[in-house]
Amino acid sequence: MTPSDVKATLSFSDGSPSMELPLYKGSIGPDVIDIRKLYAQTGKFTYDPGFLSTASCNSTITYIDGDKGELLYRGYPIEQLATQCDFLETCYLLLKGELPNAEQRTDFTKLVTNHTMVNEQMQFFLRGFRRDAHPMAVMTGLVGALSAFYHDSTDITNPQHREISAIRLIAKMPTLVAMAYKYGIGQPFIYPKNSLSYSANFMRMMFATPCEEYEPDDVLVRAIDRIFILHADHEQNASTSTVRLCGSSGTNPFAAIAAGVACLWGPAHGGANEAALNMLKDIQRQGGVEKIGEFIKQVKDKNSNVKLMGFGHRVYKNYDPRAKLMRETCHEVLQATGLHDDPLFKLAMALEKIALEDDYFVSRKLYPNVDFYSGIVQSALGIPVSLFTAIFALARTVGWIAQLNEMIGDPEYKIGRPRQLFVGSVARNVKPIGER
Ligand code: SDX
Repeated sequence: MTPSDVKATLSFSDGSPSMELPLYKGSIGPDVIDIRKLYAQTGKFTYDPGFLSTASCNSTITYIDGDKGELLYRGYPIEQLATQCDFLETCYLLLKGELPNAEQRTDFTKLVTNHTMVNEQMQFFLRGFRRDAHPMAVMTGLVGALSAFYHDSTDITNPQHREISAIRLIAKMPTLVAMAYKYGIGQPFIYPKNSLSYSANFMRMMFATPCEEYEPDDVLVRAIDRIFILHADHEQNASTSTVRLCGSSGTNPFAAIAAGVACLWGPAHGGANEAALNMLKDIQRQGGVEKIGEFIKQVKDKNSNVKLMGFGHRVYKNYDPRAKLMRETCHEVLQATGLHDDPLFKLAMALEKIALEDDYFVSRKLYPNVDFYSGIVQSALGIPVSLFTAIFALARTVGWIAQLNEMIGDPEYKIGRPRQLFVGSVARNVKPIGER
């Protein structure tokens, strides 16, 4: 980061000593005001719940411009990666900072492929869950449990340990997600098949049975691969910040990623794709397109607590570039599956059109985000709604790892420990119970 020649001066109206704060410039995006010495010099904290104005770190991985609707992974626009690369190339890029050449791509693919199996003991964790357990409850448990099997790679300060646990996590997430799905429907687990690509292998583990050969459909495999690319990383979002904070204590990578899985589950974050599809199904049940007006009225009524799931974003105050790509993928998959008249997709496009013309949403800069269409695509791929966020976690694992490794690799990093504005009771004495 480059020191700016602009300085910020903080002064107080009560005559307390003012303070000069240095500014730093990034390669693109907003400058930052360095407040690291603020408390030591003024005895005051900054106050920013939700971190709307706070940069928690400096990073070289993902850049988002919310006004332009721009998303870059290591400088490459998401539109180019999603159409010209596959997910494993994107993983290589996020982890190492450059796209692989042909030889590097082959080696990386082989490395990941050879780590797709999980320890046979993992099955016994699954057996402990009810069959109808939510897949994200299962995934939170399974990912954390991985740390019980790899004592040879849990020292996060050891670069070799970080490298092998990154490969193991990227390689095993599809196997674990497919196992969570199979367990829920009472079908036998399908082992990975090394002759298949990463995404074709995932589709086979999800939909094959021991009773017959399963031929992955190239269009559907390409679609799920693109879904993985679009969800791979996204700057310092809630789950990534969780992984960084968790990892800053020095815990092992599997535990830190499990914390990210738990955070992603929330409906305001990764759980929004499941919530968006359920919202569309509810509108459909109540009468479809004719009922959109009534639904929008509910959303505008603050007391209803109804949100337009799949709309709005803390950073994108313009269209989420991933939503555009997801909508295109939607068209392709619905055509390929013969579901082009899918009423939910038509309903989604009608809802999007109405919302984009309604001042309530326009004035609040509420546009469709990545989650609005991803549920429809996944449904068309045969993926159950309850598994959508687990798929998101599968894809986001590489981003979490890249961000975690960047933090651990930063010589300046230390354990994250925010402070607070205390507004509770000042010191008081305990009274004997008879006097309370
Ligand atoms: C993801 O951070 C990331 O990068 C996340 C993510 C990633 O890749 O990691 O992009 C993935 O999580 C995408 C977001 C998925 N969530 C949803 O689709 C859930 C619905 N969206 C909202 O919960 C909300 O938009 C958030 C949480 C996404 C963003 O909320 P903000 O930025 O804190 O905005 P806000 O809650 O302060 O809302 C501003 C106004 C409010 O109205 P007023 O009080 O000003 O009158 O907009 C309203 C909100 O009530 N609003 C919505 C709305 N989202 C915000 N009103 C209706 N429907 C919505 N979806």
